[in-house]
Amino acid sequence: MKNILVTGGLGYIGSHTVVELQNEGFEVLIIDNLSNSNIEVLDKITSITKIKPKYFNIDLKNKPAVKNFFATNKVDGVIHFAASKAVGESVEKPLEYYENNIGSLVYLLQEMKANNVDNFIFSSSCTVYGQADELPITENAPIKPAESPYGNTKQIGEEIIKDTTKISEIKAIALRYFNPIGAHESAKIGELPIGVPQNLIPFVVQTAAGIRKELSIFGSDYPTSDGTAVRDYIHVVDLAKAHIIALKRLLNNHHKKQFEVFNLGTGKGNSVLEVIQAFEKVTGQKVNYKLVERREGDITAAYANTTFANDELGWKAQLNIEDALLSAWKWQETL
Ligand code: WQD
Repeated sequence: MKNILVTGGLGYIGSHTVVELQNEGFEVLIIDNLSNSNIEVLDKITSITKIKPKYFNIDLKNKPAVKNFFATNKVDGVIHFAASKAVGESVEKPLEYYENNIGSLVYLLQEMKANNVDNFIFSSSCTVYGQADELPITENAPIKPAESPYGNTKQIGEEIIKDTTKISEIKAIALRYFNPIGAHESAKIGELPIGVPQNLIPFVVQTAAGIRKELSIFGSDYPTSDGTAVRDYIHVVDLAKAHIIALKRLLNNHHKKQFEVFNLGTGKGNSVLEVIQAFEKVTGQKVNYKLVERREGDITAAYANTTFANDELGWKAQLNIEDALLSAWKWQETL
């Protein structure tokens, strides 16, 4: 039985990944400081898989606590989700983002190296590409200067990991997510935004539920089919399953380089208006919206070239945007 540490394992993508890890027979240890998650998710995961993960309320910025964790727990691999991830907030609080996202990563890698934990999966983001010159986006697309401290922490994080793999036995995979959406089919776990949702889908489902008066569509003058911005919306369960495949690649030494990067998307782009139309179609719910100015820092379009992940990782998204939107609505109905 392999022991896998999942940092941020009570969060949105983390919790869905813990479920898939347990489904695959891994022993899961969760570190989560509950700064952007809810302890109830632990019981929800257990109710889905009938296996309770070991949970540690540790803040990864606390170096002695990280040291003690690795000194007292046997770990075969680490999947690292724990990080602050709000683009706008990162602009207002850059030092908190650098301290949390970079500081935690350094402490984690230091203790992995000291304890011979050699398999590392890093939660990265397509945000590192900025507005790519070519669509769909491959892993070789140039990394653009970050538009936000949040995006910068992902770029710097990848560099830190790459440098660490050169001077240690650690082998790592960075997974660059496009736009994760949706919820587990059980509707027991899903996206739990704290406060006013920043991301599109939580705002759409809360508007449909009457919690928000109307959705503001940020920009209708983009050079796209209908003027609204285009993204690659990937079901969070497909995303979770990709983590298991990447982890097994490292555990089985099937990796080709000490540091590998994969784009995780569906390969299909949808505009904001197309998302609303699809949501209304699959749920029968109405979404009130108005067209407003563009949001500062947003790009026109991003969707993944999935060839490398399909061929090299052997992973392909199985669920489509309608599946994801319906699952997001079913999850919202339980809240
Ligand atoms: C999607 C589209 C908005 C809200 C960011 C990060 C990325 C990841 C996901 C953390 C855009 C539009 C949104 C609203 C809108 N974050 N929108 N009205 O900005 O593509 O990606 O979040 O891991 O790293 O960069 O996602 O969901 O915020 O926006 O019109 O109320 O929906 O303008 O075109 P984004 P998003």
